[in-house]
Amino acid sequence: MSIETVTTQPIAGQKPGTSGLRKKTTVFMRPGYLETYVQAVIEGVGGVEDREIVVGGDGRFFNDTAIGIILRMLAANGASKAIVGQNGLLSTPAASNLIRKRRAFGGFVLSASHNPGGEHGDFGLKFNVANGGPAPEPVTDAIFARTLDIASYKIVSEPAPDLSEIRTSSLAGMTVEVIDPVADYVAMMEGLVDFDRISKLFASGFAMRFDAMSAVTGPYAKAIIEGRLGARPGTVINGTPLPDFGGHHPDPNPVHAAKLFALMFSGAAPDMGAASDGDGDRNIVLGRGISVAPSDSLALLAANIHLAKGYKAGLKGIARSMPTSRAADRVAAKAGVEGFETPTGWKFFGNLLDAGRVTICGEESAGTGSDHVREKDGLWAVLVWLDIIAARGESIAEIVKSHWATYGRDYYTRHDYEAIESGLADKLFADLRDSIQDLPGKGFAGLTIETADDFAYTDPIDGSTSAKQGVRVFFTTGERAVFRLSGTGTEGATLRVYLEAFEPDPARHDLEPQQVLAKVIAAADAIAQIRERTGRTAPDVVT
Ligand code: G1P
Ligand code: ZN
Repeated sequence: MSIETVTTQPIAGQKPGTSGLRKKTTVFMRPGYLETYVQAVIEGVGGVEDREIVVGGDGRFFNDTAIGIILRMLAANGASKAIVGQNGLLSTPAASNLIRKRRAFGGFVLSASHNPGGEHGDFGLKFNVANGGPAPEPVTDAIFARTLDIASYKIVSEPAPDLSEIRTSSLAGMTVEVIDPVADYVAMMEGLVDFDRISKLFASGFAMRFDAMSAVTGPYAKAIIEGRLGARPGTVINGTPLPDFGGHHPDPNPVHAAKLFALMFSGAAPDMGAASDGDGDRNIVLGRGISVAPSDSLALLAANIHLAKGYKAGLKGIARSMPTSRAADRVAAKAGVEGFETPTGWKFFGNLLDAGRVTICGEESAGTGSDHVREKDGLWAVLVWLDIIAARGESIAEIVKSHWATYGRDYYTRHDYEAIESGLADKLFADLRDSIQDLPGKGFAGLTIETADDFAYTDPIDGSTSAKQGVRVFFTTGERAVFRLSGTGTEGATLRVYLEAFEPDPARHDLEPQQVLAKVIAAADAIAQIRERTGRTAPDVVT
């Protein structure tokens, strides 16, 4: 074996964000860039000598090349084994499961999630730790520190093995086990939802369309929904992972999954529509003529989770990210379990899940998951929905409406302003922060502010604190507006504005969210002076 030590330069400013490091693909492809970052990760996590590491990604452009480099670097850094998905594929939840099941030291997950792929798209790399979840802040801080003074990286000169066949080989003394990326995941799902009950649902004529968006979930969804549950062939569309996702954004929202949304609101709608994102951790669920808001989906799954096969013991607690609507809190209160409000990003759920304080958690950004892994899990959410539908014998619309009748409806929307010039966005946000203490008592667009703060979180398990997690504005009449700058964009800054209002009266549960929220939308715009400062007249994406 021949280990090369290659001289390199620090890569300043490459701080891993809420989901690892995300950059333009061309940046990752710069000579030595990926290598330098991977070496910083390896050192930041305390080295990989004699460790087993899981490696896989969402199949986007550069996935296979990057995996080859990572394997050669793991071998050079003394890892004992790499467990790799066939063809380099692993959905993010499947990678999380594999790390846990194999008791691996951690894993490299290659993905830029729902961002577009391809040579001119985005690429990303994340390290997950032994619990299967994204590296917590102390670890990402250590990785970041290494990027600042790194001087060399190690790589073996032997080529990485072919990943197209399921087999075990050796790379310069490190075992490389290529595994079926789907099998372990299917086995896990079989324990969590009732495959027999769902098969009967499909056999009775239940029709579904699952849009895998030409991303990594295709093989998983086909194997389970069509293969095991007997849904009609063709139920899963765009089921083959493509390096550029067919030129689309693999993001299951009304803009990028427009065809699915149109179908579900047409006369030809099947009983259920669903989609997942690039790396398979996000999901959207639609019924005939209704799209389930992700915040509602979290609340609904929580309220019904005891019906699903693997959750008969019921709920321990529920966690939601701060910008997610308060619908989940109502379920927690009624069930008499703890409800947690965490900063944006799945990593904040890890400690709560590890400590057994919560069963289910979710984010407004189409993410839901449970204690089965330490990532959100798109296909899991869809399967639990199916299990609940089969158990209740009701349509999605009926289930959603009866939930609102019981708990009230939290009208909700998120407005994104994308690719704002960074300096301008930073200034807007700094000024908003500075104004917080003066906001209470002030009126905007007919609403009066009761309180406002910059969300800070203290982890109840390890006591660590995270400040400046987003500005929250509460109005005297119960509405809420939240402002955040995205941590996952790769072009300029993205301002996210989250708006919600609670409506207890079932007679008012069928209104248009944008109309119900018109006042709080206008108030938010005035508070942060969004139009005035950015010149934008409308958000780029409304979800
Ligand atoms: C976005 C979502 C957030 C999610 C993250 C990773 O982050 O808003 O909920 O955890 O992607 O999927 P943001 O761009 O807002 O920082
Ligand atoms: Zn994702």
